[in-house]
Amino acid sequence: MLNDWGGQSFPHPAGRKPVVGDGLSIDASRPLNSMVGHSRTLGEIFELHVFDQKFVFVSSARLAAEMCDEAQFAKALPPALTALREFAGDGLFTAYNDEPNWALAHDLLRPAFTRAAMQGYHPIMLETLDELFAYWERQDGPVDVSRDMTKLTMETLARAAFSRDFGSFDGTDVHPFIPAMVQALRSGQRMASVQTAPGSRLLLRRMRKRNAPHQAYVDDLLDTVIAERRAAPSSTHDLLGIMLDSAHPETGQRLDDLNIRHQILTFLVAGHETTSGALSFALYYLSRNPSVLAQAQAEVDAELGPDRTTVPTFEQVPRFRYLRRVLDEALRLWPTAPAFGRAPREEVTLSSGHRMRPEDWAIVLLPAVHRDPEAWGDDAEEFDPDRFLPERSRGRMPHSYKPFGTGERACIGRQFAQHEAILVLARLLHRYDIAGDPDYELDVAERLTIMPAGFELTLSPRTPTHLTAASDGESQHEDSPAETCPYSSGTAQA
Ligand code: HEM
Repeated sequence: MLNDWGGQSFPHPAGRKPVVGDGLSIDASRPLNSMVGHSRTLGEIFELHVFDQKFVFVSSARLAAEMCDEAQFAKALPPALTALREFAGDGLFTAYNDEPNWALAHDLLRPAFTRAAMQGYHPIMLETLDELFAYWERQDGPVDVSRDMTKLTMETLARAAFSRDFGSFDGTDVHPFIPAMVQALRSGQRMASVQTAPGSRLLLRRMRKRNAPHQAYVDDLLDTVIAERRAAPSSTHDLLGIMLDSAHPETGQRLDDLNIRHQILTFLVAGHETTSGALSFALYYLSRNPSVLAQAQAEVDAELGPDRTTVPTFEQVPRFRYLRRVLDEALRLWPTAPAFGRAPREEVTLSSGHRMRPEDWAIVLLPAVHRDPEAWGDDAEEFDPDRFLPERSRGRMPHSYKPFGTGERACIGRQFAQHEAILVLARLLHRYDIAGDPDYELDVAERLTIMPAGFELTLSPRTPTHLTAASDGESQHEDSPAETCPYSSGTAQA
């Protein structure tokens, strides 16, 4: 049994079978939903056996906090991430903690996520969003929110990462890179799920063969982009430019071309569906809560004034503090990267009494942690952006809010995602009135990330009379820059 925790056992679902173990207790199309369901009956730490693999899940804020203690614990790579290494190698997301390229890439890429760098991405975000609006305005009927938010975030990231336009909104067919990348990614996930099944070697070989053309297409395209940029260096300050041009200030080391390809893929994979899911859940809750929507629109109207085409400046984005709370709360209920792995640096005893050795790992199940009544109260299942007001966040259990992960392996793209998401929400709500189908019931699609499935919105252009603005265009916020800065955590995230 892999990850056997020295033979210790934990609560597990009833009806364990020989060979498949607890596999039949998991809905293959909704595994996360199954785990969260199990956490309600099995408690704060439980296990699932699937073939020869043991998975241990942590679902309480208390145990999650223990595992977020960076002095004692570090990131672990569960099978879903090791399988992704076929695709993204030792890129930042899938690198082992001690792989030299992790520290090198982390140091070299940090400047790509500073406030100054964000200022450079702001116009790219605006330009791509304008294309989405134009695309919507050429169409009739409701829009598919998750689909279009995913196009938007993918296109924005491709432009910011390697100045490549995939033409997502120009009416032509989708660029073949996107289905090939999605296919290669799915294939990695399927491989993860059969790794320990009987006959898995044959199965994995077949899967690899079937995936090979997709993977080759993606790899070739990115290798060509890298080679072209090397052959004709430009001053372009996108992520690719930073990776090609920078040397480590102390060691002089550089990333090689294979690792640069892995990093670009990593950014595309880690950064687009996570953000589009967050935007889609936020829009879902806005469409369901008229008073929240009214408050959000009042905020954008007060900041942007009566002209629905007004574009927020970079400095205005952090002032949308209510929108930030809406986003934080959507990510609390539906953290779009819903789990991460942790392992102790040295043997420890958890408060649950279990011994954990460095070779043991557990998965922190964020949707359960983020709804733990001990941290979030008895109304933890309710959508309430104001729980992120500073006075209500103060004193909350540490590490009880972790949508961007924890410690040194936490999300490097967090500021990018937050800036983009708030900018998109602000412009969208300033420009349109939104209405969801009242009969729609939230259906959460699960891939490596989660997002609403089949969720549509009808958009109607707003006119100055609709706008609730204090239309002199003056901001209603008088906060000091330090208080409004989105680049400080500002929430319960520790
Ligand atoms: C709402 C949007 C996002 C969410 C919820 C999110 C969430 C996360 C989480 C939970 C982790 C830690 C995973 C682990 O410990 O295994 C992570 C890591 C990472 N994220 Fe994000 N992310 C988002 C957006 C982005 C964006 C926009 C980018 C790139 C531009 C990005 C790039 C990365 C990378 C490279 C890592 C690995 C960092 C490392 O290990 O050094 N993410 N993200």
